[in-house]
Amino acid sequence: MHTETHTGLESPKGVWWKPAHPAEKMWVTIAFVWCMILFAMMPLWHWKGGQNPSGIRRSTDPASYMKRVMEQAQQYGVGTDKGIPVVAPPPGADVYLAAMTFQWTPVLKLQKGKQYTLHLSSLDVVHGFGLYPINVNFMVVPGFDYGLRVTPNEAGDFRIICNEFCGIGHHTMVGRVIVEDGPTTSAAIDAPGANAAAAMNPALAALAAGSAK
Ligand code: CUA
Repeated sequence: MHTETHTGLESPKGVWWKPAHPAEKMWVTIAFVWCMILFAMMPLWHWKGGQNPSGIRRSTDPASYMKRVMEQAQQYGVGTDKGIPVVAPPPGADVYLAAMTFQWTPVLKLQKGKQYTLHLSSLDVVHGFGLYPINVNFMVVPGFDYGLRVTPNEAGDFRIICNEFCGIGHHTMVGRVIVEDGPTTSAAIDAPGANAAAAMNPALAALAAGSAK
């Protein structure tokens, strides 16, 4: 056992070649086994736990992404909600949701128990998709289109909150997803039947009309 003091300027006598204490061996074994368990849990969670859904990732740019959002509003628009288009895409459709400072466009009307591919992208900075009160969180990154296969399993009027600090209006960035049990109706929106695309913020429309890179 080392008892003499030393300054640190001269290195202490090495002891690594001496056999380890049984307790040390035991702790190294426990730590190694635990590392292996955690290592195995990563792929296990990916496949079994549904913690890291495998989405489709593509690169995009704000103008072309916004163009998809506009096309969708023209195709499946059912009205507006506080000036934001409300779209009711059919089951199985690709659904495009755009995040921008400080709003989510459009409002989505989906059917319970039906699968959709939900695309998320940002038109400016990084935002966070948080479905409230359900615990769903995804990062929404500019320049990337992240497509998630989703099947709403609960009917209700949900709010999308931004959970990535994106600026002064971060706390006001609230979106809406309406999940209906059965075919979508035009209830619970401001102006049913209105041309949803026409309700789009003019600045956004200009962005979408601009040439896609
Ligand atoms: Cu968008 Cu915070």
